[in-house]
Amino acid sequence: NADMDAALLLPSSPSVIITQDNLKKIAAYKAVEYVESGMVLGLGTGSTAKHAVDRIGELLRQGELKDIVGIPTSKKTHEQALSLGIPLSDLDSHPVVDLAIDGADEVDPFLNLVKGRGGSLLREKMVESACKKFIVIVDESKLVNYIGGSGLAMPVEVIQFCWKFTAERLRRLFEEAGCVAKLRTFGEKDEPFVTDNGNFIVDLYFERSFGDLKAASDAILQLAGVVEHGMFLDMATTVIVAGELGLTVKNK
Ligand code: 5RP
Repeated sequence: NADMDAALLLPSSPSVIITQDNLKKIAAYKAVEYVESGMVLGLGTGSTAKHAVDRIGELLRQGELKDIVGIPTSKKTHEQALSLGIPLSDLDSHPVVDLAIDGADEVDPFLNLVKGRGGSLLREKMVESACKKFIVIVDESKLVNYIGGSGLAMPVEVIQFCWKFTAERLRRLFEEAGCVAKLRTFGEKDEPFVTDNGNFIVDLYFERSFGDLKAASDAILQLAGVVEHGMFLDMATTVIVAGELGLTVKNK
């Protein structure tokens, strides 16, 4: 269980090798302690959220949780939850979600997030903006001083039609921050990555801070061709961080 795993993290157990995946699992198990029978649950996507979904499946199988309805945030999580026997639904049938648990790529000191390096930002944002409580689970490598400051991608989902035009407009929005906009690709042939919704992703990289997050969010969303971006501002209610010295729970 999560507490036992956390105990293994104590420096008095030097023989235990703490992998990043162990930390993700510890954060995920802690978050699942907030799940109660009868809840409608937003099921996140990614390697951290996967541990939470596994754990929910296990507790359902053991009869410790009952009457859960899961709303997956990606096709991948849908498949995982189905294979675990978690009853599934969607926002059309369950427009209010009690609790969502998901990972993140960056978390700033105000609990603003970057998500979507796994490509599922649109469904994640739809489900997580419909929930009463949103618990984010991360290992400590995801903590940043400011959003966009990690040097890693800030994803924007765009429609395929004239994506180069949209990417150039995105780059120009953030010219002063030294923005580079790149189409996300995969495989040896560099094929465009296509989201669950049939769109492309343009990843933005910044040399410098782009300043006000809300203004940046509004400016991105005003561009025709943009579907959604990976900044999740003022959405997380709790962030659980697993580090080498144990767990930290940050509440909004
Ligand atoms: C997918 C996401 C993921 O939550 C995010 O990329 C974190 O992934 P991981 O837990 O594998 O580090 O936003 O769209």
